[in-house]
Amino acid sequence: MSAMPYADDGTWECGAKKPHYTKHERKFIAQLEEDLREHMEAAKPARYRHSLSVAQTAEQIALMYGEDPLKARVSGILHDWDKVLSASEQVALAKELGIDMGVDLELVQPLLHGMTAARHLPQRYPDVTDDVWQAIERHTIGHAHMSALDMVIFVADGIEPIRRDVPAIHEVREMVDARDPLADVYWTSFYHGVSYVIDTERYLYPGTLDIYNELALARKANR
Ligand SMILES: [Fe+2]
Ligand SMILES: [Fe+2]
Repeated sequence: MSAMPYADDGTWECGAKKPHYTKHERKFIAQLEEDLREHMEAAKPARYRHSLSVAQTAEQIALMYGEDPLKARVSGILHDWDKVLSASEQVALAKELGIDMGVDLELVQPLLHGMTAARHLPQRYPDVTDDVWQAIERHTIGHAHMSALDMVIFVADGIEPIRRDVPAIHEVREMVDARDPLADVYWTSFYHGVSYVIDTERYLYPGTLDIYNELALARKANR
């Protein structure tokens, strides 16, 4: 995927059409992007660009797979909202919000920002629906029973065009370009994530292993 998804003829690079948003929807997207800019651009410029890129990639993938592009775009804009916080602030916020993962939250700090955002942002954006908050919550850990929107955000986060085209990411990009089933694309993206944790000898959250096992068994049963 290139960094510029729109081709000259107004279609997406992948061939899907541009989304047709109402004036109200376009205004809402613009407002969210402006809020994100105020919240993140100065503090975390690379994260800000990544967030906008995930939003655009998620919208594109949603269109390719017949899912709701607006929900995908909104999820992408907001998914890393709490990444402006330091690691210790993210842990403190998770504790304040009563998040319990069965292990010390310091150990799973990189996984917390999706859950925290999904718990406090609905107060700021009451019109955003629960499926969007669920996709944001699940973008860090995944889940054994992902909705299509959950998978779109998870995959878009991993392959947005600013990310380097390393082999694991390249494989997922190729699967999306080939319109492989979304569940297969998600599975590939998910297990590459698990492999990365093991390859770099980091702490593997037991909940991630549970999801891996459940998905692996379900896939085997469906073969
Ligand atoms: Fe994230
Ligand atoms: Fe992200």
